[in-house]
Amino acid sequence: MKYRRMASLKEPDELRAYASSLGIDLPVDDEVIAGEDGPLGQPYTLPDGFVVGNRFCTHPMEGWDGTPDGKPTELTVRRWRNFGRSGAKLIWGGEAVAFQHDARANPNELLINEANLADLTRLRGSLVEAHEGAFGRTDDLLVGLQLTHSGRFSRPNSHDRPEPRILYRHPVLDRKFGVPADWPVLTDAEIEAIIERFIEAAELAGRAGFDFVDVKHAHGYLGHEFLSAHDRPGPFGGSFENRTRFLREVVAGIRRRAPEMRVGVRLSAFDMPPFRRGADGVGEPEPFPLPYPYAFGANPEDPLQRQLDEPERFLALLEELGIFLVNLTAGSPYYNPHIQRPALYPPSDGYGPPEDPLVGVARQMDVARRLKRKRPRVCFVGTAYTYLQEWLPHVAQGAVREGWVDFVGLGRMLLSYPELPAHLLAGRPLDRRRICRTFSDCTTAPRMGLVSGCYPLDEFYRSRPEAPRLKQAKADLRKRAES
Ligand SMILES: Cc1cc2nc3c(=O)[nH]c(=O)nc-3n(C[C@H](O)[C@H](O)[C@H](O)COP(=O)(O)O)c2cc1C
Ligand code: SF4
Repeated sequence: MKYRRMASLKEPDELRAYASSLGIDLPVDDEVIAGEDGPLGQPYTLPDGFVVGNRFCTHPMEGWDGTPDGKPTELTVRRWRNFGRSGAKLIWGGEAVAFQHDARANPNELLINEANLADLTRLRGSLVEAHEGAFGRTDDLLVGLQLTHSGRFSRPNSHDRPEPRILYRHPVLDRKFGVPADWPVLTDAEIEAIIERFIEAAELAGRAGFDFVDVKHAHGYLGHEFLSAHDRPGPFGGSFENRTRFLREVVAGIRRRAPEMRVGVRLSAFDMPPFRRGADGVGEPEPFPLPYPYAFGANPEDPLQRQLDEPERFLALLEELGIFLVNLTAGSPYYNPHIQRPALYPPSDGYGPPEDPLVGVARQMDVARRLKRKRPRVCFVGTAYTYLQEWLPHVAQGAVREGWVDFVGLGRMLLSYPELPAHLLAGRPLDRRRICRTFSDCTTAPRMGLVSGCYPLDEFYRSRPEAPRLKQAKADLRKRAES
């Protein structure tokens, strides 16, 4: 492997020198300060006065383990309890939850509806109970629910049968994912019906006890696709105003029907064209036409480069709408995973990293820093810290101390090592055996229709019956890469 492993960097100066050799800027603190005296242990006061107890946030992560009718299973409850035990005081949604069957990204995605309300109420309760048991208080814990329509990546009936709900004909994604030429585009009336369901779902989330809902605009799913719907005629495409009409209508409806409900947005703040496996197994961009206006936050004339004027405008709009909770992410796990979750080892349907994953971490951090500077009143959660591994505490603390972000969001690291924030805040040394090494099994498993979890490092998953199948798939993958 040509990239230096995080664990091989022994001193903060070594990490700084390596980052500088890559041409990236990382805020690396020398010492990590435990407890409330440290930047990560500081409470954060939201504009509405709610005080969140510390600066860690759990990112939403689905496990592909709900029942066919969208109820949580024991595996779901275990993961949510782990989020509660993590010590993070901001829980961003637990995981993506769809509000109608055809909007599910997989047949086991959770569904919010009347029939499932009691189960989702209990699921939230189990997280809160686990948090209370570990930390003794929950008055400073903010728990949201991520509401999603999977749009182009809907697979409600089988993990290998896409049933895309698209907003416009995409010149690269349609080809890449085999969307037939006569596949229908969602009509304006269908979009209006989706907006209604979204609003109902927010109301239900309030009844289930959630403190906020995320109107997700990320990862190539429906909300995100609106932002690049330049080619769509009518009220939901073309101008910036039209491309954000979905957001504005959803938010207006929530304000009307559930005025107490806070609204947050998870945003892919920048995107790129899709990538594919090149001849050497390493990722390369799919051929794309120019101009390429289909990657929100990218330069249409050179879409591998960022251009943040529209994301900045989007954030100004969020602030105008009274939305102060923003979780920044990037790209999509389906077509450019190295942008979205930097990893040394690709998932089974992926490609070798086309850049040092640390560059991907720095890219997301840099965009968060720029947007935070423009919108200081907005509460920003940053993403892509897991790849930092041993250095996560030093960089996370630096980012919060220097005001790059308000919260450090953690995804994969909480699957392998849920208690990491609690250990860090308590000044305990990290358990190195449980640090996520970005093996991507938690992504490969669901691609094969298996439940997601940390198979390599979490004994609970290692001993599950599907573990050998996953191991075999990975061995095949290695063989393919070697040939
Ligand atoms: C197994 C898995 C499931 C995920 N599910 C979701 C999801 O439901 N909603 C979402 O917004 N992001 C989802 N993500 C993305 C994460 O929230 C996060 O953005 C990503 O893992 C990068 O953060 P990290 O570097 O800390 O892992 C998922 C990631 C993984 C690995
Ligand atoms: S399977 Fe475990 S080690 Fe691999 S990326 Fe997921 S959480 Fe990390």
